[in-house]
Amino acid sequence: MSDIDLMQGELLEAVASASDGVALESVRVAALGKQGSVSALLKTLGQMSPEQRQVEGPRIHALREAVSGALAERKAAFESAALDARLAAETVDLTLPAPETPRGSIHPVSQVMDEMAEIFADLGFAVATGPEIEDDWHNFTALNMPESHPARAMHDTFYFPDKSVAEDGGTREMLLRTHTSPVQIRAMIAAVKQDPGGAPIRLIAPGRVYRSDSDATHTPMFHQIEGLVIDRDIHLGHLKWTLETFVKAYFERDDIVLRLRPSYFPFTEPSVEVDVGYANEGGRRVVGGSGDAPGHAWMELLGSGMVNRKVIAAAGLDPDEWQGFAFGVGVDRLAMLKYGMNDLRAFFDGDLRWLAHYGFSAFDTPTLSGGVGTPA
Ligand code: PHE
Repeated sequence: MSDIDLMQGELLEAVASASDGVALESVRVAALGKQGSVSALLKTLGQMSPEQRQVEGPRIHALREAVSGALAERKAAFESAALDARLAAETVDLTLPAPETPRGSIHPVSQVMDEMAEIFADLGFAVATGPEIEDDWHNFTALNMPESHPARAMHDTFYFPDKSVAEDGGTREMLLRTHTSPVQIRAMIAAVKQDPGGAPIRLIAPGRVYRSDSDATHTPMFHQIEGLVIDRDIHLGHLKWTLETFVKAYFERDDIVLRLRPSYFPFTEPSVEVDVGYANEGGRRVVGGSGDAPGHAWMELLGSGMVNRKVIAAAGLDPDEWQGFAFGVGVDRLAMLKYGMNDLRAFFDGDLRWLAHYGFSAFDTPTLSGGVGTPA
């Protein structure tokens, strides 16, 4: 047996008896590495005569082929054994329930605003928006509250330190809007811009409003929905019917009784405060029935009235041609009444436990035909 055959036998034996990947690697280095025995043999080819090389060359190369083939085979065997061991150890139990993904919820205020937009959409009302950072002309002056008007002081307004420059070159006080009524002005001006003769308007404007006020029933930021209808021959009866229809749809009951009381807002004339009858059931206010019925009382629901002629004129419409009504309702209180929450401040604490309890499922959007959403 030649030296080469002998060497091949030893190396194949070493490969076969290597107990793991590390041992196998040291066999590879000892044979095929730079200083390895097979590499050394290959180097001797350079010093051989051509005849000798013709004989020895194929033998040495065959040796290298045999050894590297055996190494690769054994390495693959180790790898598949390792994979088998892992597969056996790491079983996947497909019957286990998947970890629950946290689900967000719709805040009651958003839910109620959606419900209201839905109800008013069925009555033909569009949705309008306006800026929360307003100027005093839209928030007060155009609404018939000139600079020295006492009603301005009643609003506990948050003012900004810097004034803005208006289109007419004058300066305007900037503030956080104290109600959604400035959207009335913006909507009427936009309507005149679109059609100089004016145009019928039927809209609601939901949004945040701000007043410097804080206790169990007041937060410095709260939500209102403004309603505005401008058309020819609009009268108080339209206002009453619209509000009655809305309140019945919102509370999903037919026994709603409204009481209209004379009131005062600078931007409506006459002004009407609207109360709704409710029963006190176990400390909870349940809307329905006349407030004069036994066990019942009246609760103030919203402010409204016929849009003041001065406001219609300030927005650029002819008050002899156009009349209308407007109302403003607190969204947060409507949500509390319908869904039985009693502390307004919890609305804005951002407590996830409160939201999980009172929030609404995003997959349960309200529709009038399908009934409004149910708590999540
Ligand atoms: N803007 C009034 C408020 O915030 C409500 C209101 C709106 C009254 C529209 C009349 C007409 O109190």
